[in-house]
Amino acid sequence: MKNTVVTFQQMKERGEKISMLTAYDYSTAKLQDSAGINAILVGDSLGNVVLGYPDTISVTMEDMIHHGAAVSRGAQNALVVIDMPFMSYQTSVYDAVVNAGRLMKEGRGQAVKLEGGEEVCPQIKAITQTGIPVMAHLGLTPQSINAFGGFVSQAKELEPAKKLIRDALAVQEAGAFAVTLECVPACLAEIVTKLLRIPTIGIGAGAGCDGQVLVYADMLAMFNDFRPKFVKAFSNVGEHMRAGFRAYDEEVKAGTYPAEEHTYAMQDEVYDAIRAYADELTQ
Ligand code: KIV
Repeated sequence: MKNTVVTFQQMKERGEKISMLTAYDYSTAKLQDSAGINAILVGDSLGNVVLGYPDTISVTMEDMIHHGAAVSRGAQNALVVIDMPFMSYQTSVYDAVVNAGRLMKEGRGQAVKLEGGEEVCPQIKAITQTGIPVMAHLGLTPQSINAFGGFVSQAKELEPAKKLIRDALAVQEAGAFAVTLECVPACLAEIVTKLLRIPTIGIGAGAGCDGQVLVYADMLAMFNDFRPKFVKAFSNVGEHMRAGFRAYDEEVKAGTYPAEEHTYAMQDEVYDAIRAYADELTQ
């Protein structure tokens, strides 16, 4: 059965943990869906993982729509949440509503995610009022990387921790159906999780959150440009891929691939006729 934002809320109320992973394409989404993952985030980490940028700043609406639509076609049961890219919602409430609408209409997501707390509450309120569910994102918000001065954990001191609590309550009040907590102390994430009615989805925020999200290429050890402390490699897919690519390269160069069983045959009389035709052409 298709998961919805209502499923998320029910899972929190029943104390069931929510599993979420990023995906950026149809085949990966299908695999995650068939593995029972509750929700798929078409994250703007697409910029790092798929497009090779150093951060998420250059990701466009067109990128998110293109990959969002591919994931949506592969996700039968998982809730699909699509990230709003940098400057698609910060500029105005109007831009936020129009762009959230495009991610739903063209990207076929079931919800959008945006970064920020009190400062983006007018956007969250306006988007949810149009019937589009919004997931908020607090803590380390990668679109603010230039203000943070790097990918560093957040809200470790008293005042930033208090601000994070105020932000979490504010985005809930504005209508967010869930909130991502990235790279914050586990004990703080646990306090926030207990304070909120809506589910918290942690990434580098400890086990006290209502659910967890990871970048799928990180947890399969496919992406090695940088490895945050909170990432666990659940499988070494990167190494399996490299071994497969190496074996292919070797067989192509040795002429052992393709073998007879990988080729298409032709009836003898057609072959004889086509040989004669080719000979005629070259005389
Ligand atoms: O873009 C992304 O993958 C994210 C996760 C890190 C939560 O926002």
